[in-house]
Amino acid sequence: MAPIKKRILTGIRPTGPLHLGHYVGALENWVRLQEEYDCFFLIADYQALGDHLDEIERIRTSVLEVTLDWLSVGLDSEKSVFEVQSYVPEHAELHMLLSMVLPLSWLQRNPTLKAEMADLESEHKTLTLGFFNYPASQVADILLPRAHLVPVGEDQLPHIEMTREVARRFNRMFREVFPEPEGLVGRVPRLVGIDGQAKMSKSLNNCIYLGDDPASVTEKVRRMYTDPARIHATDPGHVEGNPVFMYHDAFNPDKDEVAELKERYQAGRVGDVEVKRRLAAKLNAFLDPVRERRAHYAAHMEDVKGILREGSRRAREVAQQTMADVRDAMHLKYTE
Ligand code: TRP
Repeated sequence: MAPIKKRILTGIRPTGPLHLGHYVGALENWVRLQEEYDCFFLIADYQALGDHLDEIERIRTSVLEVTLDWLSVGLDSEKSVFEVQSYVPEHAELHMLLSMVLPLSWLQRNPTLKAEMADLESEHKTLTLGFFNYPASQVADILLPRAHLVPVGEDQLPHIEMTREVARRFNRMFREVFPEPEGLVGRVPRLVGIDGQAKMSKSLNNCIYLGDDPASVTEKVRRMYTDPARIHATDPGHVEGNPVFMYHDAFNPDKDEVAELKERYQAGRVGDVEVKRRLAAKLNAFLDPVRERRAHYAAHMEDVKGILREGSRRAREVAQQTMADVRDAMHLKYTE
C-alpha cells in the first residue's frame, strides 16, 4: 500500500544525553511534524561505532537514554516509528549497494566529513573506513524508507545534499526508486554553549541537558557567560552576541519580558543576576513537563524497550519493500 502521508526519516547517534541545542535545532521540528508526516526516528548505533568503538558501553546506555529523551520531549511512539539501526539489517544492506553508486570524490568533498576528519587528525586518532563511510550509511538510512523530508541540525545538510545526488544517480542508472529528500533545519540552527562557545556540545562540556534537574539548570545559568565588557550592573550592556539573551530569545515565551530586559540591560538598569534568574525560571518551566514525562517512562523501562522492538519491526517491513524494489531495479535476481 502506498503511503498516504509523506515520510520523514531522521535520527541521532546514541553517544550521550540530548541537550537544549538538540531541542531547538531539530527535536522541536520532529515533535511538530509528527502529525503531518509518517515519521521514522532512527537511533543510529552503527554510525555511533564509527567514532566510539572504544566506548561501546556508552552507546549501549545511550540507546535507552536517547529513547527516554525522545519520549520526554513529546515524540509519540503510537504515531511514529522508533527504530534501532542494527535491528534493521536492511540499513547495512542498502548502504553496501549504494556505496557502489556513490563516487568516492563525493565523500572527499563533503564539508562536514572534512571537518570531522581534520578533528580526528588533530587528536591523532585513526581514520577508519567505517568512519569515512558514515555519510554513505546515512544516505542509505534516509533512502531506505524513501523519506521526503529530513529535519536535522545544520551540520547535517551536506549529507542530505549527497542523499539527493545519490537518489538522482540511482534513479537514472536503474529506475525511479527513490524520492529526492529535502532537509529542514530548526528554529535555532546553532545554539551557543553556556560558556559562549559557538556550539553546545557534549565534548565541550557546555550543555544544559534535557534531563538536568532544576537545581543544576539554575546553577548552570548562574555560571553562564555574559557580556565580558560589563563590570557593574549600572554599565550599559551588550545584548547582541550575549549568550544569556540568546537563550532568552530561544526559550522565553514571554517576548515582552525579553524586550523589557534587553532595554534595561542596554541602559544599565538591570544586573546579570536578575536576567539569569528569570532565564533559569523560564528554562525550568519549559523542562518541567519534559521531566514529568521522563519520570513516567523511566519507571516503565520494559515498555520503552518494547517501543524500540516494535518500531524496528515496523521499520523492517517498510525496509524489505524498498529492498525488493532495489534488487528488482538492479536485476539482482538469478533464480526466479
Ligand atoms: N548523523 C546524525 C547525528 O550525528 C545521525 C543520523 C544517522 C541521521 N542517520 C541519519 C540523521 C539519517 C538524519 C538522517 O546525529
